[in-house]
Amino acid sequence: MKKSIVTINKNINQIILILEESVNYMLKNDAIKIGRNELCPCGSGLKYKKCCMNSASPRPVDLTNLYQRKYDIRLKTPKDIEGIREAGRLVLESLDLAEKNIRPGITTDDLNTIAHEHAISRQAIPAPLNYKGFPKSICTSVNEVICHGIPGNEALKDGDIINVDVTYIYQGYYADASKTFFVGTSTPEGKRAIRVAAESLKAGMKMLKPGNTVGDIGWAIQQYAEDRGCSVVREFVGHGVGFEFHEAPQIPHYGRKGDGIVLVPGMVFTVEPMINLGGADLFIAPDHWTAITKDGKLSAQFEQTFLITEDGYESLTPFEV
Ligand code: MF3
Ligand code: CO
Ligand code: CO
Repeated sequence: MKKSIVTINKNINQIILILEESVNYMLKNDAIKIGRNELCPCGSGLKYKKCCMNSASPRPVDLTNLYQRKYDIRLKTPKDIEGIREAGRLVLESLDLAEKNIRPGITTDDLNTIAHEHAISRQAIPAPLNYKGFPKSICTSVNEVICHGIPGNEALKDGDIINVDVTYIYQGYYADASKTFFVGTSTPEGKRAIRVAAESLKAGMKMLKPGNTVGDIGWAIQQYAEDRGCSVVREFVGHGVGFEFHEAPQIPHYGRKGDGIVLVPGMVFTVEPMINLGGADLFIAPDHWTAITKDGKLSAQFEQTFLITEDGYESLTPFEV
């Protein structure tokens, strides 16, 4: 187990080097063109024309530097990835614990307490607590609540669905994941919301490989969900994660094929489509957090933290969807 992790990590660095070399090769042979006013691929932060464009010995491409300068995206090193993976393990433990405790009668505050105590027992910090004023340690979003539901004293009822969203900081690294569960007996509507949300995440996951773009992910998700008569929430997006709760880039769950930033190895971000059985419109409750469908229909969500690898992706919060 440990060995394969080390091998994968080495490969990521190797592939970044290979990618950089092939970009260098293509530049040299005019196989790709960079606009004179674009950022120089050496990562200097200067315009291409002011830097390597006319240089007899252009500096090599530096993806880490380039993605930082151009998009504010911080590519992760093997050490960072191991840290995020560890945080992810604890997040999954917490989601499993939530699942074991979900039943009619339990309150969302009870689930919050269970997750909070779990985090503390593992030397992890629940990232939502006090994040921009959020008052609790997890988000619990029931039925027509899309996301950012604040745990409170109402009890779950038979037939409800509930999304539990857990983000932990462990040894300085963030991992973020969520699942939607049935409470007691599943209803046909609840099943449908959960199935389409899970399959939408899967559709997005198929796009996760170097060379594809952020737009490809959103396109695949939107296509899947809308083909089934569901809608995709626009106001909340996936996000870079690892060093902070929310980093660049944003990952919309709708979009056009080929649009947006090109995925490269070392990127770590969430995909977390919120799928509504009715329309996409929402409103925010007076608590300033809880996002609720305007038409009162069900909304479901699944989220994982993903690493782009040399030949695809690895989930750093892996679970079956
Ligand atoms: N975990 C949520 C996400 O997936 C963010 C919650 S922010 C909070 O991005 F403040 F509501 F916790
Ligand atoms: Co997230
Ligand atoms: Co989350």
